[in-house]
Amino acid sequence: LRIFVTGASGMLGTAFRKLLEADDIHTARYSDLNKVDGVDYLDVRDPEEVARQLSEFTPDVVFHLAAETDVDLCEKDEDHSFSTNTIGTENIVQVCLENRIKLVYISTGAVFNGRKRTPYTEFDTPDPINCYARSKYQGELIIESLLSEHFIIRAGWMIGGGRTDKKFVAKMLDLMGRNDSIRVVDDKIGSPTFTFDFAKGILRIVESNNYGLYHLVNLGVASRLEIAQEIKRIRNFQCEIIPVSSAYFPLPAPRSDSEALENYKLKLSGLNLMPHWKDSLEKYLIELDSP
Ligand SMILES: NC(=O)c1ccc[n+]([C@@H]2O[C@H](COP(=O)([O-])OP(=O)(O)OC[C@H]3O[C@@H](n4cnc5c(N)ncnc54)[C@H](OP(=O)(O)O)[C@@H]3O)[C@@H](O)[C@H]2O)c1
Repeated sequence: LRIFVTGASGMLGTAFRKLLEADDIHTARYSDLNKVDGVDYLDVRDPEEVARQLSEFTPDVVFHLAAETDVDLCEKDEDHSFSTNTIGTENIVQVCLENRIKLVYISTGAVFNGRKRTPYTEFDTPDPINCYARSKYQGELIIESLLSEHFIIRAGWMIGGGRTDKKFVAKMLDLMGRNDSIRVVDDKIGSPTFTFDFAKGILRIVESNNYGLYHLVNLGVASRLEIAQEIKRIRNFQCEIIPVSSAYFPLPAPRSDSEALENYKLKLSGLNLMPHWKDSLEKYLIELDSP
């Protein structure tokens, strides 16, 4: 496959580059706002440039990962959120339509309102409660209404980035290494999604040619507290973990109580090969230690 990747310098994009560079089956071109080695500059909000770069590379499929993923920034700047996540996606869709290119769009478990007591399946109805999630959901709707050859793949709480990680796992490692006690939120649940498992899972889905909407997360549901406790166990930290409610750390954007997803469609077709999040967390922490 000839694969064009947007958002290729981001957390998931970095995992994709590693995966695709290790195989000689696919040919890929990478783009992002942030130029790093091997990644070209492309702002997905610029329709002419999107058309130019896609026509030049003539991909079979676009992996559209580029997004504004700062949920609180999206809440404060709605125009920025919609122009990047929704209009940026529409720009890609237009070129895919004109050139019969397949599209892979990464969406989020945050499209749900979080009131369901069990993990959300592909057959539950989205009802986003913050601006980031609304802008991502509108991207889904545009794709579904315009382009039949698409894969919309919803992820949970993404974990990856290794030594450059600045998100939850990196913060926990740092805080637990420096403090006798830390406070961690225990009233929000989600589905940890490790970038290396997710990227491989996407390739399996795309190669199946079964278009449509999928949930793709590691097995098992967790709260932030449970992830922290597991990091503590694996790394043998002595730090005390004090559970607190999310009201303890007020944030600009509301978060739903549950973003937990089930890979229901993959399960029904016997293709749910995602490992449990605890196994992938252990593997991730071992890899962080290796040179
Ligand atoms: N992180 C999660 O927990 C999570 C969960 C579910 C779904 N997702 C989805 O998964 C995808 C990948 O997310 P990620 O975790 O890898 O996020 P990320 O690390 O923030 O990567 C996204 C990349 O897109 C770039 N970008 C932002 N605006 C752009 C624009 N206008 N044109 C081109 N590139 C642009 C970002 O650059 P800057 O860094 O300069 O903004 C960044 O390099 C996104 O579509 C996201 O919505 C993420």
